[in-house]
Amino acid sequence: MTFPILERKIRGKRLVYLDSAASAQKPAVVLEGEKAFYEQHYANVHRGVHTLAEEATEKYEEAREKVGKLLNASSEEVIFTSGTTSAINVVANGLELDGDIVVSMLEHHSNFVPWQQLAKEHGKKFKVIPLTPDFHLDTEKARELIDVNTAVVAINHVSNVLGTINPIKELADIAHEHNAILVVDGAQAVAHEKVDVKALDVDFYAISGHKMYGPSGIGALYGRKELLTKLQPSIFGGEMVREVKIEDTTWNDAPWKFEAGTPNIAGAVAMGFAADFLRENYEQITKTDAELVPYMLERIAEVEDVTLIGVADEKRGTCFAFTFADVHPHDVSSVLDEHGIAVRAGHHCTQPLHCALGLDATTRASFGIYNTKEDVDAFIAALKKVKEVFT
Ligand code: ALA
Repeated sequence: MTFPILERKIRGKRLVYLDSAASAQKPAVVLEGEKAFYEQHYANVHRGVHTLAEEATEKYEEAREKVGKLLNASSEEVIFTSGTTSAINVVANGLELDGDIVVSMLEHHSNFVPWQQLAKEHGKKFKVIPLTPDFHLDTEKARELIDVNTAVVAINHVSNVLGTINPIKELADIAHEHNAILVVDGAQAVAHEKVDVKALDVDFYAISGHKMYGPSGIGALYGRKELLTKLQPSIFGGEMVREVKIEDTTWNDAPWKFEAGTPNIAGAVAMGFAADFLRENYEQITKTDAELVPYMLERIAEVEDVTLIGVADEKRGTCFAFTFADVHPHDVSSVLDEHGIAVRAGHHCTQPLHCALGLDATTRASFGIYNTKEDVDAFIAALKKVKEVFT
């Protein structure tokens, strides 16, 4: 397994990439697969009847099958989108909203703002499930907030800040008891654990290609078949139609009615390669995470002035947000960069969460399949230098 970018140096130092939650690096198998597609099979899809058009269409639809297989869905339940954000917007814009919306305090803006705006537009309630003091979703409160008037529950699977892993099946059961649908932002989950949308009993599940070792600008939405049939398209144009007349237009079947215009063809094909890469490497991923998560918890606790903001036990995801005394996260990140270490600093597109925690920003380290204990050691050693620079 090679990741060409990991060979490069940053400021003369070995690159230690601890920003996979923002975007994962790409294995050669994905990079070469996409290049080969452009070099040997590229044309537009679903349009021409020439050989290349047929080959490109076949590869594009094969990629849909691969993504379906990754999530245990059938290919007709997989819509290609530009990422998780657009996948969630496809759902929010296509629903006939007839009730209130419940989200959580843990949400990324992409699974918060579309629902907040939809609730406002329809004059419905927008409720937010709070957290427990140990950074878990307050499921007692969730049971109170999700009620007979709820139409949509929108929750992330794994927090991009706190490392919290949400009880998706339990939330699906609560939502379904009240005839509400459950929409899950799976962007931080799919690169770390095998997701089975049928076993989780979710109605919609959104993922991004770039966080699962595929390209940016491509993502996918799983939708339960009967719900995709009812969901209205919200982007109109070529290919998503069955018949266009001056008076009106009828839609193609799902998933194609949601893919107006020329799609990100090569991106989808490469996302298919990334889906295969994940399926082939889940064992390795689980092993890496199981080794690195406790090691990071142990080592980060050594650094004076660092406060971990998130779940403190080993049953957690691989994002580690923290504060460093009163040093601004951008400054912490700059010092780490001097040592070749890439982390993210800011509010991580979770302003309501940071506000609830009384923080403007945090620094965040996150793992991918390529990380090692040596990377954690390099990170901790560099973190210890922050104090020398700023105090
Ligand atoms: N959602 C990505 C992150 O958390 C960009 O960094």
